[in-house]
Formats: sequence, C-alpha cells, structure tokens
Amino acid sequence: MKNKKIEEVKVLIDKDKNAVVDLKGLNELKVKYLGKKGLISELNQEIRNIPNEEKKEFGQKVNEVRTLFNEYYDEKKKEFESVLLNEKLKKEAIDISLPATKVVSGAPNILEKLVEEVEEVFMSMGYDVVDGPEIEEDKYNFEMLNIPKGHPARDAQDTFYLEGEEILLRSQTSPVQVRTMLKGKGEIPIRVICPGKTYRRDDDDATHSHQFMQIEGLLVDKNISLSDLKGTIDVLAKKLFGPETETRFHPSYYQFTEPSVEGDISCFHCHGSGCHICKNTGWITVVGAGIVHPNVLRMSGYDPEKWSGFAFGFGADRLTMLKYGIDDCRVLYNTDLREVTTFDRKEMEWND
Ligand code: DAH
Repeated sequence: MKNKKIEEVKVLIDKDKNAVVDLKGLNELKVKYLGKKGLISELNQEIRNIPNEEKKEFGQKVNEVRTLFNEYYDEKKKEFESVLLNEKLKKEAIDISLPATKVVSGAPNILEKLVEEVEEVFMSMGYDVVDGPEIEEDKYNFEMLNIPKGHPARDAQDTFYLEGEEILLRSQTSPVQVRTMLKGKGEIPIRVICPGKTYRRDDDDATHSHQFMQIEGLLVDKNISLSDLKGTIDVLAKKLFGPETETRFHPSYYQFTEPSVEGDISCFHCHGSGCHICKNTGWITVVGAGIVHPNVLRMSGYDPEKWSGFAFGFGADRLTMLKYGIDDCRVLYNTDLREVTTFDRKEMEWND
C-alpha cells in the first residue's frame, strides 16, 4: 500500500518532467515534491506509521525517489539555463563587420611642439625658461639694447607703437635679456631662454607675419667666447635636425652684440649638394647671435670688464617650417583642423 504510493510519485515525476518548459515551472516542481508539504516530504513523514521492520526498506525507497527527482531537476535546470544563455548571447552579439565610428583625435600644434623641444634641450644644459611682457617699453625693446631713439637700426623693425613713443608691442624677444639682467642684479651665471610672441608691422604673406615667435637666449658668465656660443647652437641644431648637422657662423650686425653673427646649419635636405631649401648653398641661416655688447651689459648692471656673455635669437616659426617642410608660415596659425593636424599624422582622419 505504502509502496504503491511511492510508485505513483515516481510516475508523476516522470510525467511532470516531460511537461515542464522553463526554469519557473521547474522551481514550482521543486516545491511540489520537496517543499514542506511536497509529495516526497509527505512520503517521508509516512515512515512514522510504518512497522519497524519495514522502516528501513521504505526509507531507502523514499530516498531513491528523492535522488530521482534531484537528478531530473539538475538535468532540466542545466538545459533551461543553456537555452537562456544562448538567447542572451544572440541578443548581445556584436556585428564586427559594421564600420566603426571614426574618432578625430587632437594633435599638438607643431610650433608649440618645436618650442617645447628647444626648451628641453636648453633646460638639459642648465638654462631657465623665462617670460617677458608682449606689451613692452621702448626702453627695454630698444634703448637698453644699445638702440637709441632715432637710430637707423630701429627702421629694420617696423614696430607697433601703442602709446606715444614709449609703449609698444615688442618687436623682438631681446628685451627679456635686459629684464633678466636687471633682475639678476649683477649675479652670475645667467642662463635663460625666452620663447615668446613678437610683433612687426608686416603685411602677412607666405614668409611674413605681423605676429611671429622668437626664442631668445642669454648667457652671462666669465670668459664667454664665440666658441661657447657655437658649441651651444650646435647642440640644438643636431638635436632638431639630426646628428650629422653642422653649424657655421658668418659675420652679421646687431646693435646689441659685438661681434655679431648669423648661424647657419648644413642643409638637412640635400646635405650640401644644393636644393631649393638651402637655395643651392648647402647652408640655411637659422639664428642671429653674438657676444653681448659691453654697453648692454653695463646698462643692465653687469661690469663688461669682469663679465661677458653671448645672446641669440631664433625664429621659432622658421625652425618649425624647416623641420616640417612647410613653405607658408600662415599654416602655423591656421585654425583649420584638417590642415593643422596632418603634420603629426601619417594619415588624415576626419569625420566629414
Ligand atoms: N632680436 C634679433 C631680431 O629680432 C635677433 C637676435 C640677434 C637676437 C642677435 C639676439 C642676438 O639675442 O644676439 O632680429
């Protein structure tokens, strides 16, 4: 009688198992059989009413049914879970053949990049990077650089005056030399470079701009000679244009240096055989420089009998144009991203 009940539960399990269609239904079955009032739990309670000698056998049978149900349960559970997983994977599948959204990334402005490169070279030689005002006094821009009022050397720098004859937009970064020495109060050594914007009344074209960038340098110490200057320019030239680059000086004239030179680098493009970049000379002029004029030292509080120094001024725009092969300086100040980002990237990517 009791055994019959066990058999009935077995049959029922089989039937239910074939009818169940999802995890929810399966969990309901679990309650139906193993819950507090479940069929198997009820069988278990029957043990109380069974004569002692049959208890063991009955108990074993009930256990068999429980094991049977658990096996069915695990098997079905696995089956349903794998169906769910497959559905989920299908839903979340990524079509890798679809074209991706192109991302336009920024690139550093090449003029800024060049200035940073120059700064690093000089910082590695112990120089400080300093700043000066773009709105400058005539006194610093000209007079204390040994260019008195009315001197013809002023004509070469067609200057923007802002207020009368005293306040101007600096036409060169050289006034920072004066400001640095005044601040230095006679202390040595002075080793500074000053990259900065400069202004002249030029009509803008491929090679002229009313605003451009210079990198000024000044060193004041004991027994400074032209060969110190040449060695210094040479370090930068090799760094910017390659280790095989050579440097030479030819005489020039600036009011604030004596002697004055212009520094050339050997042509990185044709290596001397002649090309359009070096105008078939094999050399490219990149810097104005010289030994600081005694008058300039004296006016700024440095005794020229004791101290000497060199100074130089690079055109940062020109260096950048040479380095990146640009023949129109307006490109450097262009705001069209399609143009200004190309130098840094082999391939131009944009989202038109
Ligand atoms: N200031 C000069 C110019 O704008 C460039 C220059 C020449 C700077 C010689 C110097 C120097 O420091 O020593 O043309």
